[in-house]
Amino acid sequence: MAKSKTQFVCQNCGTVHNRWAGKCDGCGEWNTIIEDDMMGGIGGGPGKVPKKGRAVALTTLSGETEEAPRIFTGISELDRATGGGFVRGSAVLVGGDPGIGKSTLLMQAAAALSRRGHRIIYVSGEEAVAQVRLRAQRLDAADTEVLLAAETNVEDILATIGEGKRPDLVIIDSIQTLWSDTADSAPGTVTQVRTGVQAMIRFAKQTGAAMVLVGHVTKEGQIAGPRVVEHMVDAVLYFEGDRGHHYRILRTVKNRFGPTDEIGVFEMSDKGLREVTNPSELFLGERNSKSPGAAVFAGMEGTRPVLVEVQALVAPTSLGTPRRAVVGWDSSRLSMILAVLEAHCGVKLGQHDVYLNVAGGYRITEPAADLAVASALVSSLAGLALPADCVYFGEISLSGAVRPVSQTAQRLKEAEKLGFAGAMLPATSAEVPKGVNGRWVTIEDLPDLVSRIAGSAAKLRQTPEDD
Ligand code: TYD
Ligand code: MG
Repeated sequence: MAKSKTQFVCQNCGTVHNRWAGKCDGCGEWNTIIEDDMMGGIGGGPGKVPKKGRAVALTTLSGETEEAPRIFTGISELDRATGGGFVRGSAVLVGGDPGIGKSTLLMQAAAALSRRGHRIIYVSGEEAVAQVRLRAQRLDAADTEVLLAAETNVEDILATIGEGKRPDLVIIDSIQTLWSDTADSAPGTVTQVRTGVQAMIRFAKQTGAAMVLVGHVTKEGQIAGPRVVEHMVDAVLYFEGDRGHHYRILRTVKNRFGPTDEIGVFEMSDKGLREVTNPSELFLGERNSKSPGAAVFAGMEGTRPVLVEVQALVAPTSLGTPRRAVVGWDSSRLSMILAVLEAHCGVKLGQHDVYLNVAGGYRITEPAADLAVASALVSSLAGLALPADCVYFGEISLSGAVRPVSQTAQRLKEAEKLGFAGAMLPATSAEVPKGVNGRWVTIEDLPDLVSRIAGSAAKLRQTPEDD
């Protein structure tokens, strides 16, 4: 028997320390380190008595392969995010802030799969059976054959789901509530969560059931977050959204069986989550194209184009240090664009507050939004509205040049589909695809953009209808 060894583990990032400290060296968080027993766990763990290894047969890269067998939910936005359905024998982690709608989404998925004749087990560790039933009623899922259990003990869960016919899909809601007899530390600690997740993954691999694990993202770091198990699972999906808005995005951040960067878009209603098959229409829904400072960005999310409005407000400041506030974009990127505008275009913003907002509570991650941001800023500063039917995309370099971005064709096609007749895009973009015919204006550099905005906006004000 190996001796039990205690270590001190940061509950935020999982860094192991030899002794307790107030601040974690790994992530810089305070009061996140607790004493933890690293010995426990169904998988054994470090400290086991070493045994003599057994040689396994080495093989080659070529040979028999099969496509991963998948089960489709029929909820196309969910299937898109998972890369075409849940894979049998794999584990998927669905992370997100508490209250964002993870349980709702998974209950709807469970009901959809059950209606297709799959055996689904939903294990709730957070809510009592009655609560889950109430939710199922609201979601019109109560008439399905989804099997339900309210349990948190890992061994009991394994015994339950291992009994009878093999389930096609098991949902564990959530991993933070799992606890195992074999790990000595308190429930909710990194060790307990890892032990539980490891056991669930092993069950999936052994039986071929698909395993869906729900994890809350916790900022305080007091409870082990999904990040500490991200490396163990086959796919990681994050469910995000702004509480002030009712749409939600399921974002793929890791997928061993499909593409990442895919998104599924949903809208929260009183009857649960509804699919949004055309996100651009949602984000452009309440657009006021007559006012200055608004530019439509033609973006991409994985393989899907998304059009979204970027809004800027540039106003004279009364403060010594002007304000820069950003919602939905990277603030250091905004500073960069402001610096490039000042340095290369003579646009003076030192005496102005700058506010930038991405409409609908959406978050842009692409640098391709640079051109749309710059256009919105210039438009607001000059008080000139941009043409209502024009989209913008392109990356801006520190020299002021507008650099090409990928997937020009898809962006333009989406813009055309939604009635945008014009686009401003990088000059060096690959040729504009056939079948797309609009007023595509190529931009060399930022000074070029500034002069064109001044020109086109002036023209627009004189003759709004013709071009
Ligand atoms: P929930 O799925 O419980 O969140 P999570 O599991 O991520 O913690 O969803 C919680 C929120 O969703 C709650 O504030 C109520 C709202 N909601 C609706 O608006 N409509 C619905 O039909 C349901 C079931 C929930
Ligand atoms: Mg929940």
